[in-house]
Amino acid sequence: MESLDETEATRRGQAHILNLLHAYADSMALKCAVELRVPDIIHSYGGGPVTLAQIASRIPSPSLGTAYLARIMRLLVRENIFSANRCQPDGGHESHEILYSLTPSSRWLLQGPESELSLAPLVLLETHPWLMSPWHCFGNCVKTGGIAFEMAHGRKIWDFASENPEFNRLFNDGMVCVSGIMVRGIIEVYKDGFERIGSLVDVGGGIGKTLAEIIKSFPHIQGINYDLPHVVATAPAHDGVTHVGGNMFETIPHADAVFMRGIMHDWGDEDCVKILKNCRKAIPEKNGKVIIADIVLKPEGDSMFDKTRLVMDLVMMAHCSGGKERDKPEWKKILEEGGFPRYNIIKTPSLLSIIEAYPL
Ligand SMILES: C[S@@+](CC[C@H](N)C(=O)[O-])C[C@H]1O[C@@H](n2cnc3c(N)ncnc32)[C@H](O)[C@@H]1O
Repeated sequence: MESLDETEATRRGQAHILNLLHAYADSMALKCAVELRVPDIIHSYGGGPVTLAQIASRIPSPSLGTAYLARIMRLLVRENIFSANRCQPDGGHESHEILYSLTPSSRWLLQGPESELSLAPLVLLETHPWLMSPWHCFGNCVKTGGIAFEMAHGRKIWDFASENPEFNRLFNDGMVCVSGIMVRGIIEVYKDGFERIGSLVDVGGGIGKTLAEIIKSFPHIQGINYDLPHVVATAPAHDGVTHVGGNMFETIPHADAVFMRGIMHDWGDEDCVKILKNCRKAIPEKNGKVIIADIVLKPEGDSMFDKTRLVMDLVMMAHCSGGKERDKPEWKKILEEGGFPRYNIIKTPSLLSIIEAYPL
């Protein structure tokens, strides 16, 4: 007969699988709240407390399914995205009505003009069916060694973006929000590293927002934002930044230093070595450097971002051709093969580390 401990462990196993299996419900509820701008609505009432009717009154729709909203809010309260309290019977509301407020988590989902740091565009990007469909191809990827995004869409993500302006916009907005958050930590810990640079090329810099932020803090730097032509074509002007369209596998504009945020993790080792070799040609042999802002994996780590770092490795598997996150030995290998034998790894207060690499 099973002991009580074994029975409990078996039941916990069942609950664990049921929770993991339905983990997508959290993402989808989050997406719904962002789409309907529920965090912004609560924020417009001073961050709460607000009733469901008050939230509903600001969602533009002639036939709102308020009961659906209540169910979605209930799960999000359970996940601490919103907080909920029962109001007092004499508070001017219907007795025991639930009052919702923002939490430190939902403050990251605000999209208004004064919400500079928001993860909302990333929620909308990562939960879009275009980026969800490759996840269904993992089994096939394992069997055949193929690329999930190409199985789902018949082409690489960058070709898909160049042919689909809506995806291009969604992707670039998602990147701007992530880099906007990450760049603050980078500037904070890498001040000295930027002080001595006269010119900086941001390779795969998207629409140039990251470089613009760096240059706001270090206005002596001449910035070149380098990305594929369809990306720079939609980039707004930024003070101190020149946009250049091109292909980093062919050539990289010359500068004192190269900056790359979230580039190496998009590619397999061979491609990274090609990019690094082109970086080496772009910078002075003597004092030039490459500043890489990317994840350094610590698979056993238990800090607040370590699980997300591992998850990001699978995000790369879903979306990129050969992309992956790397631990220290894997970084060493590509840096050495790419012509950067000397490097330092510097932690930032985010998911990312800075890898400062020198040719000599
Ligand atoms: C993950 S995004 C990172 C964007 C940006 N560095 C940031 O931090 O927001 C990767 C970028 O690499 C660009 N890219 C992809 N292939 C490229 C190529 N062959 N040459 C130049 N840029 C490329 C993409 O267009 C995209 O903007």
